[in-house]
Amino acid sequence: MATKKRDFFCKSADGSITYTTDGSFLYAESGSGVVRLDLFAGHYYKLRPIKGVPILEVDGLRMQLVKDFKTPLDYSKEVVKGLGIPKTGQFSALDTCMGLGYTAIAASESPAIRIVVTCEVSEAVITLAQWNPLSEPLFKKDGKIIVMKGSAAELVKGFADSMFSFVIHDPPRFTHAPELYSPSFYKELFRACGKGARLFHYVGSLGKGKGRHIDREVGKRLSEAGFSSIRYAPRLQGIFACKR
Ligand SMILES: C[S@@+](CC[C@H](N)C(=O)[O-])C[C@H]1O[C@@H](n2cnc3c(N)ncnc32)[C@H](O)[C@@H]1O
Repeated sequence: MATKKRDFFCKSADGSITYTTDGSFLYAESGSGVVRLDLFAGHYYKLRPIKGVPILEVDGLRMQLVKDFKTPLDYSKEVVKGLGIPKTGQFSALDTCMGLGYTAIAASESPAIRIVVTCEVSEAVITLAQWNPLSEPLFKKDGKIIVMKGSAAELVKGFADSMFSFVIHDPPRFTHAPELYSPSFYKELFRACGKGARLFHYVGSLGKGKGRHIDREVGKRLSEAGFSSIRYAPRLQGIFACKR
């Protein structure tokens, strides 16, 4: 089978890796050879360049929202903007589902954010993020981001009361991770939020799914957990809420 032509994509920050793409896959080339950035580990995980930015696909499902955004990074920036983080202060943020870390990285770029804790359950995703040139800030020594391996549903139980001022919850769809939509998980998130904390919860576009209005159900569960000022942001396909 003929191999597709590969174009230059970018260099790693230290220049030791050259990334190339054939439009569908991303490849990492170093002195020791070429690695195609996809892998099987129960599911099929792949980095795919879209609009000049690698996104993560799991079993063909995109993990970043790209439609309606100039680049996949713009979504994360708009989510963070929507959280209304003040320009000054010393705040901690929780990003429950790391993926490639774009939401965690966007949060860490706010000057008033002191620390971002991000959780990822999949070793395969962590491996691809370690290869992804745009995820480099996640693993920077002395950086603001702490990566925790494991399920956010379990890790959240270990966070101190009122620890976070901002929470980004960008889970896979409900059928893939029901534990991240459960009343007990929302209660734990509420407990780990300080007074005045703001939350963003990705839920997907309205009217999709077989008769299940996930946004309304999530809104109801968040409200029962204690969150208020619940509003759906159509462009971001998610819900903003706060802890009064
Ligand atoms: C939609 S993606 C997150 C994208 C991410 N916000 C970004 O900017 O790249 C969802 C991620 O959640 C991870 N995940 C699934 N279940 C999880 C769980 N229980 N705890 C933590 N992460 C989980 C998936 O492996 C996937 O990487």
